[in-house]
Amino acid sequence: EKAGYKHFMLKEINEQPRAIRDTTLGRVSLDTGKVFLEAMQISDEDLRNASQITIAACGTSWHAGLAGKFMIERLARLPVEVDYASEYRYRDPIADPRAIGLLITQSGETADTLAAQAELIAKGSKTLAICNVVGAAVTRKAQGTLTTNAGPEIGVASTKAFTAQLTALFVLALHLAQVRGTISDEESLHLVTELSKLPGKLASMLNINSPDAPGSSEGVAAPIRPSTRAAASDTERRSTVRLPLSAQCEELARLFHTSDDFLFLGRGIHYPIALEGALKLKEISYIHAEGYPAGEMKHGPNALIDESLPVVCIATKDPNDPSSVLKYEKTLSNIQEVTARSGRVIAIAIEGDTEISQLVEQTIYIPQAPELLLPILEVVPLQLLAYHIAVRRGCDVDQPRNLAKSVTVE
Ligand code: M6R
Repeated sequence: EKAGYKHFMLKEINEQPRAIRDTTLGRVSLDTGKVFLEAMQISDEDLRNASQITIAACGTSWHAGLAGKFMIERLARLPVEVDYASEYRYRDPIADPRAIGLLITQSGETADTLAAQAELIAKGSKTLAICNVVGAAVTRKAQGTLTTNAGPEIGVASTKAFTAQLTALFVLALHLAQVRGTISDEESLHLVTELSKLPGKLASMLNINSPDAPGSSEGVAAPIRPSTRAAASDTERRSTVRLPLSAQCEELARLFHTSDDFLFLGRGIHYPIALEGALKLKEISYIHAEGYPAGEMKHGPNALIDESLPVVCIATKDPNDPSSVLKYEKTLSNIQEVTARSGRVIAIAIEGDTEISQLVEQTIYIPQAPELLLPILEVVPLQLLAYHIAVRRGCDVDQPRNLAKSVTVE
C-alpha cells in the first residue's frame, strides 16, 4: 500500500503532481480562463456582496489559510481574516452575516474547526469548506464544499493535502475575482494557464514522468550548488553535480540533522510556507524550529543567530511581478544580515538565480511560477528536508510521537 516507498509521507509527497491536477481538473477552462465551481448554496450575489472572508483552520490547514489570504485579497480585493480555529470562538467574534466563513480541513473532522464553523453559523454567516474527505462532518453544515482531490492521506504530517488546499484556495480566489469583476479575462487566462503547468513542474522536481506515472524518490530536477562561502567543505565547494531534489535534501539532512534549532524565513505569501517548513520539521524530527517573517528578524530573533543555526530562507521571485521583486530584494538584505552573523543559510530560489548562490552556503532551486503559485512548488523541498532529517534521526516519520492524524477533541 506504500507503493514501494519506505514511508507514506514520501509516497504522498510524490503524489503531489496528481493531487494538484485532480484538484484543478474540471474547475477551470483552459480556453477562457473561467472557473466553474460545483453547485453551492451561496449565490454569486452573496459572493459579490460579501464583506469579508473569515478563514478558520488548524495546523497545516491554517498555514494554507494564511497563504489563501494573499490570494483572495490580491485577486478578489476582498478582506480576509485568518483565525486559528481553536481560538476563534473564544474571542467573541463580531457578528457579520455578510462575512463568509471558510473552513479549511483535510479530514473535515477536526473538533476545533467544527466548533469555529458552529460559531460562524451562530453569528449568521454562511460557511464554505475546503475539505479532502467527501461527506465529512464539516461539509454537512457548509453551504458549499471545494473538495481537494488529493486522495487519502495516511502520514500524520500533511503534505499533498496542503498543496491541494493551496490549489483549491487559488481556484476559489480566481472565482471570487471573476464574480466580483476584479480580474481581466486576459489575466484570468494567464493564471489558469500557469496553474495547469504546475503538475508538470512538480513532476519534474520529483522526477516523475507525468502525474499519472508512479513516482520515484530519485530525480533529475534542480541542481544544488554549494557556494563558495561559509562552512562548505572543500569537497562540497567543488561539487557542481546536479543532484535530484530528493537527493539534495538528503545531502542537506546529512549536513544539518544534528542541529538543535532551525529557523525558516519568508516574506509575504512565502511567510506561511516558512511556518509550514518549520511545522513539518518539528512534527516529524522533533527538532525545535521556528518560522518567522524575514523582515522581523531585526526586531529580536537576530540575537539567536550564530554559526550553529541553519536558516532556511525562501527567496523566490516572480520577475514579472514588481511587488514580488521588491520583496525578494528585501529578503536578500535579510539574508545578508544572517550570513554577516555566521548563520548558515539554505536558500530556496528560482532556477537560474546566481545572485543568491553567491551569498549563501546552500541553494535549492525550484521552477519559475507566478508569485501566488510559487508556494505550491517551494514547500516541496521543505517537506523533503524534514523527511530526510527525520529518517536520519531514526524517527517514526508516519506516526510521530504524541500526534494523531485527526484531532477530534477540543
Ligand atoms: O484535518 P485537518 O486539516 O483539520 O487537521 C489540522 C491539523 O491537525 C493538521 O494540519 C496538523 O497540523 C498536521 N499534522 C500537520 O502536518
